[in-house]
Amino acid sequence: MSIEGAGMQRTFVPDPGNHRLLRDAFGRFTTGVTVVTTQSEDGPVGITANSFSSVSLDPPLVMWAPGRSSRRFRYFSEAEHYAIHVLGAAQRDLCYAFARDGHLIESIPHDVNAHGVPLIPGCLARFECTRVATHEGGDHVLVLGRVDRFEMREGEALAFYAGKMTELPAGK
Ligand SMILES: Cc1cc2nc3c(=O)[nH]c(=O)nc-3n(C[C@H](O)[C@H](O)[C@H](O)COP(=O)(O)O)c2cc1C
Repeated sequence: MSIEGAGMQRTFVPDPGNHRLLRDAFGRFTTGVTVVTTQSEDGPVGITANSFSSVSLDPPLVMWAPGRSSRRFRYFSEAEHYAIHVLGAAQRDLCYAFARDGHLIESIPHDVNAHGVPLIPGCLARFECTRVATHEGGDHVLVLGRVDRFEMREGEALAFYAGKMTELPAGK
């Protein structure tokens, strides 16, 4: 599996037998943590996602990637309107809760925007989006959205690195 060795650094070629290694290598990229919410035929839903990325300032575009194996995939790949919530350090519980239960949003206090999208208060940043494109992305789909409205506050961030949650101090 390893084709080159240099000290502790090893090189691999992705194959079905080393998914675990590839996942671990992807996990070396530190990300923030978001909860994406939308309205669905089964009511309001949410999902924890760290595939979020800002894309463009003009026009204002962001992306994230719902996974095909998720039971919630259809809600999010088909959603025309959705909101992306960047979690702060105090919202660690929301990260785990929305990873487990998409319908949790029904039992936590939230607002609803003009498109029926649930909005969780108190996040570090929140982007209300309209989907403008989707692209195939293997076992995920890339969803590109235009930011219609956004808000933010100061505070410590929640970060995800090597499969673990950590906290980052507030930026200046
Ligand atoms: C930190 C973290 C990041 C995640 N990022 C994504 C993501 O970007 N896309 C995605 O589809 N699922 C992501 N997940 C998994 C989903 O939150 C959820 O657990 C998974 O879709 C299983 O949902 P299901 O039980 O409804 O099938 C992430 C989970 C965690 C804990």
